[in-house]
Amino acid sequence: MNGTRILLIVGGGIAAYKCLELIRALRDRGACVRVVMTKAAMQFVTPLSLGALSNDKVYSDLFDLNDEQEIGHIRLSREADLIVVAPATANLLAKMAGGHGDDLASCVLLATDKPVLVAPAMNPKMWAHRATARNVELLKSDGIAFVGPAHGEMAESGEAGEGRLADLPSLLTAIDQQLQRQRAPTPAAGPATGPASGNLLRGKHIVITAGPTHEPIDPVRYIANRSSGKQGYAIAQAAAQAGATVTLIAGPTNLPDPAGVAIHHVETARDMLQSVRAALPADIAIFTAAVADWRVDVPADHKIKKNKGSSANAPALRLVENPDILQNIAKAKKDRPSLVIGFAAETQTNRLIEFAQAKLDKKGCDWIVANDVSVDADETSGANTAGVMGGVMGGDNNRVHLLTQEGIEDWPQMSKRDVARRLIKAIAKHIDGQTSLERKVGAS
Ligand code: C5P
Repeated sequence: MNGTRILLIVGGGIAAYKCLELIRALRDRGACVRVVMTKAAMQFVTPLSLGALSNDKVYSDLFDLNDEQEIGHIRLSREADLIVVAPATANLLAKMAGGHGDDLASCVLLATDKPVLVAPAMNPKMWAHRATARNVELLKSDGIAFVGPAHGEMAESGEAGEGRLADLPSLLTAIDQQLQRQRAPTPAAGPATGPASGNLLRGKHIVITAGPTHEPIDPVRYIANRSSGKQGYAIAQAAAQAGATVTLIAGPTNLPDPAGVAIHHVETARDMLQSVRAALPADIAIFTAAVADWRVDVPADHKIKKNKGSSANAPALRLVENPDILQNIAKAKKDRPSLVIGFAAETQTNRLIEFAQAKLDKKGCDWIVANDVSVDADETSGANTAGVMGGVMGGDNNRVHLLTQEGIEDWPQMSKRDVARRLIKAIAKHIDGQTSLERKVGAS
């Protein structure tokens, strides 16, 4: 982030104080941070503290003659590499979606020609409100990137749900990704590990599932897994860069939405299946999601109370099997995409290919991408390996084997981005081969 200029717009929410930490972390990484705050934000954090940490003047008043003469809202909006809105309140999102410009923050957001990353934070009911959902959809279709909100306890006691400001590492990753995206060269055909070509998949519709699913136990607890969604998001991005129309159906992750991709956020396996079906027809479907195999048969309507000191009274969860989305689509009579690709994450390294082969046969898909997610699979990934699983789940690297009708390709360890690009190239090659075969048959 060395030398990058970030304009941070601080909205008026209880999470505004977390911006102090964000500014410090950005400056530690070499970024220059300039701060604009809304009037409401001043109720939660002072210009003095934001100014001290950013080492710059803090801007808040559209009608401050001195400020306007000194720099002006147009210059503020342009003299940045990236605009970050954190925390973005429901009101600020509504103003952005409606194109309002009645204060400095909204005028800057209207006037800017720079990428904007939004980190919402609000009460879960406000986030779930249809008006907010409509505004978010609108902003996403305008190309605004989002990070979070995350699940968790709210400042209001007893409230929990989706609405917390994304945590600091997620904010930093999202900011970094936005900055990298700007630096990335324009997609062009290149070697297997280079950027995916700009038109390899033009005219094709690809549906991709990614991330984990959350299966509720009660209104505040759920069953989940360690999937980060990084591999699926990288494939969605590479497919979009290759000119495809991409529908990404994502379980809960902390990743910003990839640019140029239609994304549907879902929670449970059943929601995911419904969304995949709604997204069809498609030419290609890639199932990277780590779908929960089981869900709680009847989740409790209210938070299950703990009977102190009595394990004997601990609730017994009756689990039932979730639908297998990949198998459903691969064996569908109607609307089956012509190429269906599954993923197989296994922890028994020496039986990886055997299990993947069995999955290929059982599920009826065309290809399987097999990867080893055992503890020692990747020590270089940067993921937290202190947990039960290894560095692949949550990490940035992957080592995969591609199983197709033609045989098995063992790919070396590479970043998930490069796995994505190489997979997109393999798909394009396969489609190209099919098309020329069809042409030959048609001509004979
Ligand atoms: O059976 P297993 O979970 O190992 O299969 C992995 C593959 O199947 C992945 O492609 C995953 O996305 C898909 N899958 C699915 N629905 C499920 C379980 C797995 O789509 N319920």
